[in-house]
Amino acid sequence: MSLIEEINALKKERGAVIIAHNYQPDEVQALADFTGDSLELSRQAAELDEEVIVFCGVHFMAETAAILSPEKTILLPDQFAGCPMADMITADQLRARKKEHPGCVVIAYVNSSAAVKAETDLCCTSSNAMKIVQSVPEDNEILFVPDTHLGHYVQEQLGREMIIWDGYCPTHSRIRDRDIVREKQDHPNAKVMSHPECPQNIRDVSDYLLSTGQMITHAKNSDEMEFIVATEMGLLYRLRNENPEKKFYSVSDRALCPNMKKIDAEKVLWALQDMQHLITVPEDISKRARRSIEAMLELS
Ligand code: 13P
Ligand code: SF4
Repeated sequence: MSLIEEINALKKERGAVIIAHNYQPDEVQALADFTGDSLELSRQAAELDEEVIVFCGVHFMAETAAILSPEKTILLPDQFAGCPMADMITADQLRARKKEHPGCVVIAYVNSSAAVKAETDLCCTSSNAMKIVQSVPEDNEILFVPDTHLGHYVQEQLGREMIIWDGYCPTHSRIRDRDIVREKQDHPNAKVMSHPECPQNIRDVSDYLLSTGQMITHAKNSDEMEFIVATEMGLLYRLRNENPEKKFYSVSDRALCPNMKKIDAEKVLWALQDMQHLITVPEDISKRARRSIEAMLELS
């Protein structure tokens, strides 16, 4: 039996489904039942009938699935697949900052731990951040955590002052403006699609600021034929597969998230064999974090 056949047989036996983030290695995306961005995967996790979800992504994503589906078994094939941005804020730090701004509305980017989400009013992803911020009445102060770049992007777009945490994604921060200049010189007809986790100098030279799911939709629906893609390079797999007639160029080979690449096909098999690594969230934290995630899902 090939590795894929083994995975499929075991998946059936366990009543499991495999979902993968758009940044996962090609071989993981190829074997997954569903791929998507953070928002799509959170929704998917809540709606799927299967009892066991093998979540190929990073820890906060599997936690989000565990919060939304506490009765299901959520497995993360590599227990060390974390997100450095999510680790840039702790619940204690957030509680201390909230004390400095009593009454503020706290919005957490989904790239945060369950314990942090439990301290927030609303969650958001890169595809709905604008809408979520707009849902807060103008006279409320907003504390936005943890991504400084997404926070500043939303602030610029809406002209709405917020208190913004200083976390960032190391992968998107490694993209330089000279990467864009070079790629534009090589591909003068290409449009630049960047993720809002990119710093301002990259946002300023981009044609579109989009979440990974929005990039997939835009590439499919637009008449444009060539794109420079300023986000984690795993996204190229779907972009190229779903649009074989179009051209996609990764902005830089530094645009790689080492945590997203910790999972491979063997680890998916072992996850199913050993029913590892189980991701759970303590009930009190889960209950409070769920309110914030569900408030987002209702608004988006
Ligand atoms: P999206 O999939 O929501 O665009 O998020 C990107 C990301 O960095 C997830 O870690
Ligand atoms: Fe975290 Fe950045 Fe990796 Fe996304 S790409 S998981 S934000 S480190």
